[in-house]
Amino acid sequence: MISFTLNGKTVQTDDSPDTPLLWVVRDTFGLKGSKFGCGAALCGACTMHIDGSAMRTCVMPVSAVAGKAITTIEGLGTPEKLHKLQAVWAEQGVPQCGYCQSGQIMSAAALLENNPSPTEADVDQAMAGNICRCGCYPRIKKAILTVAAESSAPSAPEELAANSTAKIGEVVL
Ligand code: FES
Ligand code: FES
Repeated sequence: MISFTLNGKTVQTDDSPDTPLLWVVRDTFGLKGSKFGCGAALCGACTMHIDGSAMRTCVMPVSAVAGKAITTIEGLGTPEKLHKLQAVWAEQGVPQCGYCQSGQIMSAAALLENNPSPTEADVDQAMAGNICRCGCYPRIKKAILTVAAESSAPSAPEELAANSTAKIGEVVL
C-alpha cells in the first residue's frame, strides 16, 4: 500500500508500485484533468506538483511519491475560487483545443510560486518543456506575465500606506 497526499487529502493505493503516477491519479482516483500526451516526459501534458515542484508524472512510478504531497489541476483552484492563473486563462481565452492546458497551468503556477516576477526569458525557460500542438504559446506567455504584473502591482490600501509615509511635499510615483 502506498500513501501520499492528493490535493490536500491523504490517500492510499494498492496499485503496482511501478504504475505511473499519472494513471494512478486518473484511473484510481478519477481526476482526469492531467493528460497523457507522449508518455516519455517530453510534452508536459501530465504535469503535476510534487512537493511544490512541477514534475512529469507519466514516467514517475507511484512508489516514488510515497509520503509526498501531490497537487493536480483539480487542487489548484475551485470553480468558486479559481487560481489567479485559471482566472486570467479564462479572461484571455488562452486555450484552443485545451489538451495541454492543465500541464501548462501547473508549470506556470510552479514558476510563479518560485519567481513571482519572472522576465519573459524566465517564462520561456520555465515553460519550454510544455508543448502545445495548437501553438498557443504567445497567449500562454502573455497570461503568465499578466498574472505576474497583477500580483506585483500594489493594491490600493498599500498605495495609500506608501503615500501616508511620504514626507510632506515628496512625490510618490
Ligand atoms: S505525457 Fe508526460 S510529458 Fe508527455
Ligand atoms: S491548446 Fe491544443 S495542444 Fe495546447
